[in-house]
Amino acid sequence: MSVTHQLRCTNCGARIAGDAVRSDFRCPDCNGLYEVIYPWSEGAGPWNVGAGSANAPSSSAANPPSTASANLSATASSEVRLPNPGGMRHLWQERKTSTMPVDQSGVWRFRELLPIVRDVERVVTLREGNTPLYEMPRSAELAGVDWLLAKHQGMNPTGSFKDTGMTAALSVAVERGFQWVACASTGNTSAAMAAYAARAGLRCIVFIPEGKIAWGKLSQSMDYGALTVQLKTDFDGCLKLLTKLVQQFPIYLLNSVNPYRLEGQKTPAMEIVEQMEWQVPEHLVVPGGNLGNSSALGKGFLEMKHLGLIQRVPKISVIQAQGANPLYRWFGDENREMKPVKAETRATAIRIGNPASWRKASRVIEETGGWCEQVTEQEIALAKAEIGAEGVGCEPASAVTLAGLKKLVAAGRVTREERVVLVLTGHTLKDPQYTIDYHKGELLTAAEMAGETEAERASHAALRKPPLVLEADEAVVLRALEERMAAANKAGTQATPGTVK
Ligand code: F0G
Repeated sequence: MSVTHQLRCTNCGARIAGDAVRSDFRCPDCNGLYEVIYPWSEGAGPWNVGAGSANAPSSSAANPPSTASANLSATASSEVRLPNPGGMRHLWQERKTSTMPVDQSGVWRFRELLPIVRDVERVVTLREGNTPLYEMPRSAELAGVDWLLAKHQGMNPTGSFKDTGMTAALSVAVERGFQWVACASTGNTSAAMAAYAARAGLRCIVFIPEGKIAWGKLSQSMDYGALTVQLKTDFDGCLKLLTKLVQQFPIYLLNSVNPYRLEGQKTPAMEIVEQMEWQVPEHLVVPGGNLGNSSALGKGFLEMKHLGLIQRVPKISVIQAQGANPLYRWFGDENREMKPVKAETRATAIRIGNPASWRKASRVIEETGGWCEQVTEQEIALAKAEIGAEGVGCEPASAVTLAGLKKLVAAGRVTREERVVLVLTGHTLKDPQYTIDYHKGELLTAAEMAGETEAERASHAALRKPPLVLEADEAVVLRALEERMAAANKAGTQATPGTVK
């Protein structure tokens, strides 16, 4: 694969070669973050959306190419070589049946849109991506929309969306000859990095806030052999320290300030439209922490529009936990000043007060016409239980999407007819303690529960399923089951079989 990309500062616009970037991935002139640009993506970024779209070829799929190399075609009016949309759609679909690891990856299957490594056969892949898009009829009803889908990124190899970014950036690290990689993390980035580094035979260092990450995630980084450092600080403190260290040692930084991470994380945008038979949802709802993922998905959709693969982009809304809401506050601030907050939320994945990619994410929201919303701990807990009760499940940070959607609908920002996709970022098994505490009624404090409405209290009561502890005696068990079944039938809480696809 020919590597033709450059890095462009999203703040001052300066361009550099990919391998000329500083180890902290910041622009030396203005400290801005970079994005990856290609000859064909000029003008496609969230920062100058719409420009250059005259170069986009027709989306006709009439003549699919027979080989990957046939996939790049020069347009008559321009020297810029643009991938051919019709050909790409066909090729991406065809690769699903290939036995080659790189084709089986739901990231590298779309490699025409991320030519960031020279030898695509050498990429580090765990067959990430290709995650399901579930219909969520009961959650749709609860949110007040007719059609709701969930793109479950928790169904990736290490259980979170981070795998799609890690395969991309870690493959670049390998190509550039790094022996060590590192990240600061609330748990999922570190789990993904540890797994991919192990596959590649690289050494890795993980910085995590002590006591503030879910056990499932902590166990993963140990299982995959990372050097795990628990720091007595929060995520923001971990990232600050690591950013200094990578300037002193030859360590490759794998946080989402690394723009190659976002190239992998943009590919679920392609999967979503592919899974919707090349239709575009009206709205995409994404959790916001360090704000790399919303930026990446926005880039994916905007590039597809620029290339003529789709005719419009969805509105992209970002939801933050109320206790970790710097972007929400920024939108509400008259002076538009980013003020970091001291973050606190049980959704530990997004317990971030000073998000690195806030500028990129805010532009995605503004360019696509989306919103930034915040949700309380009670709202997150309820939404997580509702997603679980639909047989899908997710980790707390992912549940902010349903909680946020309810608010967007209530405020009239999303209408009933709009097709909405929630991006569920992590698997329910990442944080089982949260789930157990919720069902035992031990998650929320008395003060938090005191603020619940009658309807919320009833919803919690119907959803909570604490385990029964019984004597192993037939009569005792039978009586208990009869009681429970009668109560459930009376309440009508039994789901109608077959309603969820
Ligand atoms: N959801 C989950 C499950 C996450 O792990 C994260 C971030 C987010 C949402 C937010 O994504 O940061 O791109 O806005 N987790 C990072 C980590 C910070 O270290 O695992 P974002």
